[in-house]
Amino acid sequence: MSSKVIEEKAWEALEESVIYYHGQPVGTIAARDPDIDALNYDQCFIRDFVSSALLFLIKGKSSIVRNFLEATLKLQPKTTQLDCIKPSRGLMPASFKIQSFNQQEYLRPDFGDHAIGRVAPADAGLWWILLLRAYTTSTGDKTLAQREDFQEGIRLILQLCLVTRFDMYPMLLVPDGASMIDRRMGMYGHPLDIQSLFYAAMVASLELLEPTYQKNQFMIQAVQNRVGPLLRQLRENYWLDSDRLNVIYRYRVEEYGEEALNQFNIYSDSIPFYWLAKWMPEAGGYLAGNLGPSQLDCRFFSLGNLMAVISSLTNEEQSHKILNLIELRWSDLIGHMPMKLCYPALENGDWRTVTGADPKNRAWSYHNGGNWPVLLWMLTAASKKMGRGELAHHAIAIAERRLLLDQWPEYYDGPDGRLIGKESRKFQTWTIAGYLLAKELVANPDHLDLVAFDPYLW
Ligand code: GLC
Repeated sequence: MSSKVIEEKAWEALEESVIYYHGQPVGTIAARDPDIDALNYDQCFIRDFVSSALLFLIKGKSSIVRNFLEATLKLQPKTTQLDCIKPSRGLMPASFKIQSFNQQEYLRPDFGDHAIGRVAPADAGLWWILLLRAYTTSTGDKTLAQREDFQEGIRLILQLCLVTRFDMYPMLLVPDGASMIDRRMGMYGHPLDIQSLFYAAMVASLELLEPTYQKNQFMIQAVQNRVGPLLRQLRENYWLDSDRLNVIYRYRVEEYGEEALNQFNIYSDSIPFYWLAKWMPEAGGYLAGNLGPSQLDCRFFSLGNLMAVISSLTNEEQSHKILNLIELRWSDLIGHMPMKLCYPALENGDWRTVTGADPKNRAWSYHNGGNWPVLLWMLTAASKKMGRGELAHHAIAIAERRLLLDQWPEYYDGPDGRLIGKESRKFQTWTIAGYLLAKELVANPDHLDLVAFDPYLW
């Protein structure tokens, strides 16, 4: 089937996923699978809407994005909650739904209070800031972001990330399941996926916060103080390549004091050197999945690594090494569908203890080593940004062979991503939008401006 037909069908499917509030388009539902119980897939998720929103901006349909930004901003709690089971001030919901009562429509948010496992989203607010920046870049309209309610919204999200806390690292401390991976997967602490978004959202905030507003000054200062140390921490202590492996392999442990080289007291025996030494190509490298006391999670997480390239969190050489790794480990990371959410999967005892024996997250399924087509747009953006467009073309060609025929699945299973995900929804909106967005980024790389960042100078 030709690309043109696939794109046309994708557009039709995307348009059918648009939801309306008071007659105005306000978002897209997560999936429209006619055969499976909707659960919460009939809601508009903030993280899921981002790919649709970027596409709508590219196509000049900015009003839906504006409506979405305004509607979600109103859902953000603005006052300090004394009730500990209410969402905190500044938290953005994971999703919302339109409900009717007495012939009146209203929006019902889910902050994780209804979600499976009661997971609160740390990524929603960060994506919201990134989308506001994309809206401003695309439309050239700064007045929306400059509005007092929007400036307050940004400040409240940042406050949640930057205020008093229990650790003294520049990273953001979050519970497990706080991101796209919204089930237990051993990502409590300082998972890369959140750190990459945190970095990008902070840099975006420096563009969006009006420096002349008195109320912004403390926050701008706090962000400026955090960005540099966060960037250094990620570039230095999360980074894995051949050289770093040699350093970590010979780390001294139990070092006390400020001069310690092995600041996190990582024990060599906790690192899968045998596997890594075989898997890591000489020309490749990547940011590790998590870092904390005696913990360096060596799994490769795609979202965090790709967003690091897109936002220039990694330096030029590191960004190329991440793409080299993807190119040289293509069958592991891309296989039959771009691309793995994380690699490798947790198996056997690790699966039992780390995921809580979650059957949906069995090895090589769903979040645990499944392949997610939505990641195609991030792979495309990262490749184009680094002048490696051939990777994007190749990945898109692979995705095109399957997506329409398989009815736009949410995810694929198996070590090589050959099987349609066991519990995968079909007509998953971010699968559809991710594909179309990848095509737009290839057709006109100027659109990269919506998501990419120049290196931050501090
Ligand atoms: C699943 C995914 C989550 C996504 C949601 C709606 O819960 O893990 O990332 O936002 O589905 O598609």
